[in-house]
Amino acid sequence: MKNEHPLVVVCATITEMHAQIAQARSTGKSVGCVPTMGYLHEGHASLIRVAAQNHPFVVVSIFVNPTQFGPSEDFERYPRDLERDMQIASEAGATHVFLPSVQEMYPDEVRSTIHIDGITDVLEGASRPTHFDGVATVVARLFQAMLPDEAYFGQKDLQQTLVIRKLVATSTDDAVRSTKVTVLPTVREEDGLAKSSRNVYLNDVDRRDATAIYDALCSARDQIVAGCSSRATIELLMKVMLQRVDRLEIDYAVAVEAESLRLDSDTLPAHVALCIAARLGGTRLIDNMLVERPTT
Ligand code: PAJ
Repeated sequence: MKNEHPLVVVCATITEMHAQIAQARSTGKSVGCVPTMGYLHEGHASLIRVAAQNHPFVVVSIFVNPTQFGPSEDFERYPRDLERDMQIASEAGATHVFLPSVQEMYPDEVRSTIHIDGITDVLEGASRPTHFDGVATVVARLFQAMLPDEAYFGQKDLQQTLVIRKLVATSTDDAVRSTKVTVLPTVREEDGLAKSSRNVYLNDVDRRDATAIYDALCSARDQIVAGCSSRATIELLMKVMLQRVDRLEIDYAVAVEAESLRLDSDTLPAHVALCIAARLGGTRLIDNMLVERPTT
């Protein structure tokens, strides 16, 4: 492929990637990586910028991973714009882009899948049963390809960050086990909607109504900070606020413990995760907020 972004080296194969990394390491450079599925936006750029502040070698992977999409999901129509992605990655400070084919990531003879237990049973895992197997499997393979010292992920996908932390903590593979995982805050539009590659699916009405998700999270957060400790009250508040948009279908709107993403009692714990998934005009949106419950 012709490289029109001279500051960024494009690698299509694991062999090329390893050669670039070996060269960087021989001159003492550390490696930061930002795994993505492309169609980059300011959320991705924020991760790349922090990676570039901390590492002289920054590789952004762009790979729309088929194994994390369910059969009726949007793999085929997932938005793609490589030219724009290269521009954004380069401007944010990437030195390398890893652009593997499906065959490169999933050679015919390799059929192994990584399953992370527990944390994958709830929320996104409950709605999308094979999703996190696909995420854990591809992230392990991406780490093996990019051999990073540090990998950057967004809190936007809170459950994904917990799955990846568990993947790293339990892996027997050196490349995976030795990767430091750093999670950075969600970047939002001015009206609060979390930036997402999938926002491009929203029409004008969907886009206007989508702010209900952020508004519900903020109201719930404010209630907790003001002293509300009842899970039922907080969840009801989020649902009522979401139901103001009658076209919006709630998948879940929950207040849970921030590490396990579960909660058995009605009393909120010290670290609360507010998590929402909702559908608007066929587009599934997720968002979350972490809240510390006041102790006094
Ligand atoms: P993708 O959706 O492209 O997201 C890549 C990274 O960008 C993830 O860590 C995600 O949490 C982060 N991100 C997305 N929107 C963000 C926002 N508004 N603010 C901050 N960070 C944001 O997540 C994936 O791809 C895939 O599952 C992947 C990890 C690459 C595995 O295929």
